[in-house]
Amino acid sequence: MPRLIDPELVENNSQEEAIVDETLRPQSLAEYIGQAGVKANLDILMKAAKQRNEAIDHVLLYGGPGLGKTTLAHVIANELGASLRITSGPALEKPGDLAAILTNLNPGDILFIDEIHRLPRAVEEVLYPAMEDFALDIVIGKGPSAKMLRIDLPRFTIIGATTRVSLLSSPLRDRFGVSHHLDFYTLEDLDKIIRRSARILSVKLDDAATEALASRARRTPRLANRLLRRVRDYSEVKGDGALTGELCNSALDLLEIDQLGLDRVDRKILEVIIDKFSGGPVGVATLAAATGEDLATIEEVYEPYLLQIGFLDRTPRGRTATPHAYKHLGRDYQQKF
Ligand SMILES: Nc1ncnc2c1ncn2[C@@H]1O[C@H](COP(=O)(O)OP(=O)(O)O)[C@@H](O)[C@H]1O
Ligand SMILES: [Mg+2]
Repeated sequence: MPRLIDPELVENNSQEEAIVDETLRPQSLAEYIGQAGVKANLDILMKAAKQRNEAIDHVLLYGGPGLGKTTLAHVIANELGASLRITSGPALEKPGDLAAILTNLNPGDILFIDEIHRLPRAVEEVLYPAMEDFALDIVIGKGPSAKMLRIDLPRFTIIGATTRVSLLSSPLRDRFGVSHHLDFYTLEDLDKIIRRSARILSVKLDDAATEALASRARRTPRLANRLLRRVRDYSEVKGDGALTGELCNSALDLLEIDQLGLDRVDRKILEVIIDKFSGGPVGVATLAAATGEDLATIEEVYEPYLLQIGFLDRTPRGRTATPHAYKHLGRDYQQKF
């Protein structure tokens, strides 16, 4: 059974998803739903840069997978009428890979580096003078006769995106003039996102359907869109294509995603904490071992959402399950004592 929850998940229809992602992606700041604080700040940043006819400061966007980092990078480029070059930390293997991109930039261009926490150290060091002084330092030759050559670069902007800001070195983090955290979305925002996507995909749905999808989408736009497509498939097979609340609920039950968006892995994590560790505290690494799940996925996807909905608490010695979690799983919190 495919995992639907992992927003990064490469499904067997990942190509389809990539295309749909593209069609559903908001193009302008006005179309970009939610994240009001981030949008207001970026709006001022961009307007000021336009008035001065300058490139904007380097921007770091961080937050969980599927919350809109890549989308926002495209929006910024569109709003500025700048051209966007796209690469990622793992794609830049050698300093030369980055140097080749940097020397081909034009003034005002934006270079988007996704998963910037995965940049190799040697490549990161090329980035420092590039971001700070708009210069590239190249070593020519080897040994005692080696010379350092400095090449000037045009004024450009780096937009870095990461799901793991804590893994960024502080010299790199310091070189971003602007840094924004994308948070989980509110249910109202998800509601708007689902309605917008349904309109674009020509899917008919009523209020109850929108609500059912929003409540199970883990406050994450990519998942909201993914659930909408899964439910549309279901309704084309089982119904007449129009989505009702009842239909959405049966489709999502079939996918084993519960009313709060929890899947089997979430429930397993909570069960392990409650049943094996008497409610915690338990460290994330121990949880990963006890559930057989990937540590990074627990840290990036599962745990943040369980914290967000108040099912887990953070303590210095690890995570504890809250009374809400006990109740949701039908366990007796009092028995813990
Ligand atoms: N603020 C938003 N408003 C509307 N749709 C959004 C928003 N943020 C993300 N989306 C949708 O969710 C999908 C995933 O967003 P993406 O930018 O790829 O996430 P990330 O890069 O953070 O993993 C996009 O294709 C877009 O359709
Ligand atoms: Mg992305």
